[in-house]
Amino acid sequence: MLNKLIDDYLKENYYPFHMPGHKRSRLLDSKLGYKRDFTEIGGLDNLNDPKEVFIEMKRKIADIYKVKDAIISTNGSTSGILASIRTLTKNNKNILIQRSSHKAVYHACLINKLEVDYLDIVSNDIGAITDISYLDLERKLNSNNYSALVITSPSYEGYILNIERIYDLCRANNTKLILDMAHGSHLFLTDEYKNSFDIAITSFHKNLPALTPAAAVLVNDESIINDLRFSMTIFQTSSPSYLVLQSIDYILENLDEVEILNEKLSRNLDDLYGLNLKNLKLVNSKNKDRSKILISTKDTNINGKVLGKLLKKEKIEIEMAYPSYALLIASTYDTDEGFKLLKKALLKIDKNIKQEIKSYKFSYIRPKKIFEIYQAMDKESKFIDISKAAGKIAGGFTHAYPPGIPILAPGELIDENILENINNFLENDINVNLNGNSISVLIDKREENC
Ligand SMILES: Cc1ncc(COP(=O)(O)O)c(C=O)c1O
Repeated sequence: MLNKLIDDYLKENYYPFHMPGHKRSRLLDSKLGYKRDFTEIGGLDNLNDPKEVFIEMKRKIADIYKVKDAIISTNGSTSGILASIRTLTKNNKNILIQRSSHKAVYHACLINKLEVDYLDIVSNDIGAITDISYLDLERKLNSNNYSALVITSPSYEGYILNIERIYDLCRANNTKLILDMAHGSHLFLTDEYKNSFDIAITSFHKNLPALTPAAAVLVNDESIINDLRFSMTIFQTSSPSYLVLQSIDYILENLDEVEILNEKLSRNLDDLYGLNLKNLKLVNSKNKDRSKILISTKDTNINGKVLGKLLKKEKIEIEMAYPSYALLIASTYDTDEGFKLLKKALLKIDKNIKQEIKSYKFSYIRPKKIFEIYQAMDKESKFIDISKAAGKIAGGFTHAYPPGIPILAPGELIDENILENINNFLENDINVNLNGNSISVLIDKREENC
């Protein structure tokens, strides 16, 4: 499809008196992709108003994920999430979102001035989010009229929700289901994939061989497709990257290769999860995607961050670290050598660390909401030292990045438990988006006037 069109076009040797300004010049660094970086010239279609090759590509995506339609994003799942939430909340501003939603979901709530309720989550003994509370979901869906529910599955750490059950509950309560499947683009290769949602958003770049930030919006509810397409034109660049698009096309044209490599990945993962570790633990369970390699450091004398540093010494770069674990992401394009290196490194590190029981247990706390996010963001705020923040109202988002899940959203009350979580992150050398040691709080006019 697109790659073939570009191959054929290049053979014709047309001179580019058009954008992009690099003109595919030989003067430029050949390591970068200038030679195949195009724009919407005749024959190469227009992603924001697809008529030719992009129609074929989105049809193929829709077939793979067994949905009615698809919209390609060259701006990540982020733009798909913003567009989906805008589309579904135009007439009803009440929304229910999983508390552990990615910041893009919170940003959508901010810009669409939504009244937000949070769906409680369940986390395990290392602080990884494993599920939602179905009791909370049923109770909230029964007693409210939400435009949409936004859930995340798989989670960053690979936990997969029972989306068939969740979709049934949504339909029974007339609520649209938006599935943030940013971390699950590869699930169609397994039995774990279910097409039970109105809209899902998935990042090809996270788990398939696509360039960053290739993604797509998958649509089952055709009644919203025109609105959704328009919303995507708001959040998607009008100059989509043809390099990113070619990388999506590669996947669509080479599904056999992806499937074969996925079988090899599965064998490598069998081998890895069978590793005999005494102190570290490879966390796995029935509802978990094994390609998200979650290594618990709980009850050892190191934290996730230190494990990351030790692995780096062994020439392995990890995805992210939390106080009690490190997360590594495997994909179909990993090599046998990569897995060999990882197994050797884990055995070596495991031998050199000790058991140690720690008392602190991280969990996502849901702070008390004083103002909606959009209300709080319209108020005046200032930065104060975090040690003085108890009792104040958050003026901004606080999150560890990655994964970008807010610990505090604007308008929420900062209490001792939240501060303990933030301090625990800092003590464990986890990157939190504070301003030095300061946090943004709303200005209390009564205090200012004293
Ligand atoms: C759960 C989740 N949703 C959405 C996103 C945004 O995806 P993208 O980077 O493709 O914009 C991320 C990014 O890490 C994420 O973790």
